[in-house]
Amino acid sequence: MSESTMRGSSALARVLGLLREPPGEPDVTAGYLDLLGPAPQRRPSLAQSAMESTFLPQIYERVWRPIGFNVAKGWPIGPDTATEHAMTRDWLGLSQPGRAARPPATVLDVACGPGNITRALAGGVGHGGLVVGLDASQTMLTRAVADTPPPGTGDADIHYVRGDAVDLPFRDETFDAVCCFGALYLFDDPWTALDGMTRVLRPGGRLTILTSRHPLPLRTVRLGGELIRRATGYTVFGDREVTRALADRGFTRIRQRRYPLMQVVGGVRH
Ligand SMILES: C[S@@+](CC[C@H](N)C(=O)[O-])C[C@H]1O[C@@H](n2cnc3c(N)ncnc32)[C@H](O)[C@@H]1O
Repeated sequence: MSESTMRGSSALARVLGLLREPPGEPDVTAGYLDLLGPAPQRRPSLAQSAMESTFLPQIYERVWRPIGFNVAKGWPIGPDTATEHAMTRDWLGLSQPGRAARPPATVLDVACGPGNITRALAGGVGHGGLVVGLDASQTMLTRAVADTPPPGTGDADIHYVRGDAVDLPFRDETFDAVCCFGALYLFDDPWTALDGMTRVLRPGGRLTILTSRHPLPLRTVRLGGELIRRATGYTVFGDREVTRALADRGFTRIRQRRYPLMQVVGGVRH
């Protein structure tokens, strides 16, 4: 058995060990662990339909993400993608690529899309670490698997899981760090998703979220946000809404970076 196949099986075994109800016959035919199967999911919103198309994953990381997100973060003043990655690793208590002392952390990337953030997180994790990317979209995960170097290439293992972010399949207090970028605003029930992210973090573990933000705390803007949510399924969060939600769930050391149309919020689980 090659080194890569052995590392792949061992990463899968580790992921199965993190699950609340590991399947008897795990389906990994597509290169990721599929926990949702072929059963039709509930009707997706307009925003979520785009994520399940075959086209978006092809242009997501190189075109859609840098243009859309960098503008929302206030380009050219806001952080570019590399700065965002470095800050995320830092906020999550990881290290930076190339540094000698990188923690062997167990990390979850919720709604990982094509694995762009998952791979960036793995760069800050040392030998023995495990980074799990979870998403519901088959097309996004197919792209994630294709773009991720095989196990044994880097220090940390990376594995992808098809699952629901609003009903995380992992056991309580499993992860040292949880990240959810560019997705909380797509979830039908973001607060239940946040409960789940809190539940799977170990005490002292860190959570970081990049999500939408109202540019102005005006009633008219809030009403506009509500209309957008109803029409597209995209939620625009208030300036203090996500920090308050973390405080309500017992997070400490809460911090926030505000950008014109986005925010990064982080905290440490009590
Ligand atoms: C814009 S992409 C974000 C990708 C990456 N995290 C980033 O920051 O660039 C949003 C992802 O959220 C996923 N998603 C939306 N709702 C989900 C749910 N309920 N469960 C799992 N994934 C979900 C979509 O499939 C899509 O891949």
